Amino acid sequence: MVHPHYPIRTDRLALRPITSADADAMLEYKSDPDVVRYVPYDVLDRDGVERRIGSAWGRSVFDAPGDAVCLGVEETATGRLVGDVVLFWHSEKDRSGEVGYIFHPGVRGRGYAGEAVAALLDLGFGGLGLHRIVARINELNEASARVVERLGFRREARTVESIWFKGGWATMLEYALLEQEWVPRSQIPPAR
Ligand SMILES: CC(C)(COP(=O)(O)OP(=O)(O)OC[C@H]1O[C@@H](n2cnc3c(N)ncnc32)[C@H](O)[C@@H]1OP(=O)(O)O)[C@@H](O)C(=O)NCCC(=O)NCCS
Repeated sequence: MVHPHYPIRTDRLALRPITSADADAMLEYKSDPDVVRYVPYDVLDRDGVERRIGSAWGRSVFDAPGDAVCLGVEETATGRLVGDVVLFWHSEKDRSGEVGYIFHPGVRGRGYAGEAVAALLDLGFGGLGLHRIVARINELNEASARVVERLGFRREARTVESIWFKGGWATMLEYALLEQEWVPRSQIPPAR
């Protein structure tokens, strides 16, 4: 079992387990069709958010491959939940994982997603000992592609109409980063 030490602090954010007290804050962005357009679920109501917090989104330790840890992202200055991130542990033998992220539209363009995902990469490569972490992004989701490109992920594939997604074919971009390519957060100069 890998039990990370929470909260994980960055310059402006704190990553920590999600609890039922986060339901209202999460509902604000998870009920917005523009925000959930490229994530696996559709717009959620309060019941949908609470049920997920009570199951998958409430997990904050890694027991075995196949587990995913979801963390709430709090803005340190205000204590407000501004988004959430997920780290999937895919395989023990291949030491592989995957990241996902979603943020409140009110905090776009501040670099919060990049800052939070950087901390998640520290957890994946450092805490969990992963060798390779991927991100799978719908080609139309340009803001998301910019997040991982800024973090140094390599675009390895563009798979044309490879998944049936929310009523249509989606072309996916596959990005990857290896442990030896990752510069831990503490060594990254501020983006601006
Ligand atoms: C994907 C998503 C997280 C990107 O959000 P974002 O605000 O663009 O990303 P960041 O927080 O990293 O901010 C980066 C932007 O802030 C700017 N910025 C401002 N201050 C910054 C700072 N201190 N550090 C870094 N970037 C900063 C960057 O220049 C960049 O702008 P650009 O995209 O015009 O180049 C957001 O659009 C989202 O939640 N989408 C819905 C959910 C989703 O699609 N998730 C991904 C599924 S694969």
